[in-house]
Amino acid sequence: MHCITLARLGVGGFHLADPDTFELANFNRQYGATVRHLGQAKLDSMVEEARQINPHLDIRPFPEGLTAQNLDDFLSGLDVVVDGLDFFAFDIRRALFNRACEMGVPVVTAAPLGFTSSVLVFTPESMSFDDYFAISDDLSRRERLLRFGVGLAPRGLHLSQMDKSRISLDHGRGPSLNIACQLCAALAATEAVRIITGRPGLKATPWSFQVDPLSGKSCRARLRKGNASLMQRAKLWYVRNILLGNEGAALRHKHPAPEPCNADAKVGIDHLTWLAQAAQQAPSGDNCQPWRFQIEDAKLRILLEPREDQSFFNVSQLASVIACGAAAQNVVCAAPEIGCAATVSIMPEPSNQDVMADIVVEPKSLMPNPLADAVWIRTTNRRMYTRREVEQFSQNEMTASAGPAKLFLVNDRDGLKALGKLLYKADRIRVERRDLHEHFIRMTRFAPPDGAGCDDGLPLKNLYAGAAGEVFLRLTRPWAAMQTANRLGVGKLVALHSQQSMEKSPLAGLVCVESPSREDFLKGGMALERVWLTATRHGLAFQPMTAITLFWLRWHLEGPQVFSTAHQALLEGIWPQFRNLFPALGENCWPLLLFRAGHAKPIEYWTPRRNAQFQP
Ligand SMILES: Cc1cc2nc3c(=O)[nH]c(=O)nc-3n(C[C@H](O)[C@H](O)[C@H](O)COP(=O)(O)O)c2cc1C
Repeated sequence: MHCITLARLGVGGFHLADPDTFELANFNRQYGATVRHLGQAKLDSMVEEARQINPHLDIRPFPEGLTAQNLDDFLSGLDVVVDGLDFFAFDIRRALFNRACEMGVPVVTAAPLGFTSSVLVFTPESMSFDDYFAISDDLSRRERLLRFGVGLAPRGLHLSQMDKSRISLDHGRGPSLNIACQLCAALAATEAVRIITGRPGLKATPWSFQVDPLSGKSCRARLRKGNASLMQRAKLWYVRNILLGNEGAALRHKHPAPEPCNADAKVGIDHLTWLAQAAQQAPSGDNCQPWRFQIEDAKLRILLEPREDQSFFNVSQLASVIACGAAAQNVVCAAPEIGCAATVSIMPEPSNQDVMADIVVEPKSLMPNPLADAVWIRTTNRRMYTRREVEQFSQNEMTASAGPAKLFLVNDRDGLKALGKLLYKADRIRVERRDLHEHFIRMTRFAPPDGAGCDDGLPLKNLYAGAAGEVFLRLTRPWAAMQTANRLGVGKLVALHSQQSMEKSPLAGLVCVESPSREDFLKGGMALERVWLTATRHGLAFQPMTAITLFWLRWHLEGPQVFSTAHQALLEGIWPQFRNLFPALGENCWPLLLFRAGHAKPIEYWTPRRNAQFQP
């Protein structure tokens, strides 16, 4: 965008450096990021575009990108550098700014932050990059990024606009808007033109200038000592400890992808291992991760591990089978990112019902799967959702993604209210059965939220039970305490919470399959994951609420006698109402999973994952 803006202003020559190719993740903001250019070198399309504006442009491309080796070459003969490097490309940026200063070339940088843009100019006479941002060699990468971010916009006009939970300095992730990128191009080009034409009014570092079109504010700041000033040090402390303090505990790690395989290259062990890590991010009952992997040639096998979940909920291991299906779906979605296609064979060994799927992985250049990013950010969100309706477009996409399984949606107030009442009854059984209570306590991690030492189960904070709820959960850990709570009627509060969560949500859905066979549930698990990833992609919060469907399975597969007499009576009252809401239920239509979806603040505390475990 910088290049195009400057070309239209009449700038006649450029040194352009960019080693990247266009990918889907660039579509929200980058100039030239279109379907036509997917997979193409950004540099090529930029040169082509700029020459469409001015065929006489003198362009020197650096397709290897900026490196320590070509910096001098890149900088020689330039009037000004306009920095459009990725925020996280810190080391090369630092080298560029410092070297440019030594070689007498001014540098303009404009950072897109929320809706705002903040522009800074470094000249050989002004404060240097290292001095302004207070950067030294002994700082960690995280601290360097932090100082860079805080120094860029000292007034922080953007802070109230940004969803901080989406920022991960460690994993190189942050929210971005093309509004801000376009503003950056305008502000950076203004300063570049000022420098080239020698117009007066240049305010180089320690000055910065931030513009916020959303609030209509703009401000110039002058940090005489850069980040070393007392005020900046206090801000750094605040951002480091409060604003981003949860980051380590909150964000699940996206494993760095290996180099994509070429069409003629073999799929390697690193590709299959990475796909297994993608599978590992799938949802599972109480985050028990009931799967193991085997690698053989170019095949990834997913095996059910029944010992991971022996709970009453896991009827004939069907809840774990759903989870294995979701894991297989993640592999399919992730494979194109590493230049592969993944083909799933469901339950390939009839003699061994624990072999869930064989996934053959072949080198193939495919369009990126639109659900690929969601694999790594999909979560269960147990917060209360807002009543804002889920857009019809999102509902349609969720329904379409479920095929060939069926998805029945409930989006009317009466239906959601009725469903809430049913959940209340089913969840009462959950707190009144000793085996279910003890399983829940076993899988809840009551330790502090850093999750230290645990790689499965549910961190207490991930339950979003609120301060009072957390105290309640801690106090009722022993069954005797829970029994007392039930006798006093306090146990019903848990069920009430489920009821309200459903009633206040704008959407509920029931995924159904043809039969309760492992095969159908595995395919159903794949369908469920597609629905969930689609919801994630549409920015929706999602929570399975499965007590009712898993009790249905127990009841219909093993008979009412597995429940106490009181619970039999309760369930007998539930079933007709459940059928009223979902009339298709019957012989050829079995409930796989009930969920609610809607708009909500994203979660801050994520569930942990093991590293993928392989069997010989
Ligand atoms: C078969 C199945 C049943 C689940 N049942 C529930 C449920 O009843 N209530 C709930 O809050 N989450 C439920 N979950 C969500 C899991 O607890 C969640 O996927 C797991 O803890 C991992 O967390 P994540 O989804 O945030 O990655 C279920 C997930 C699966 C696959």
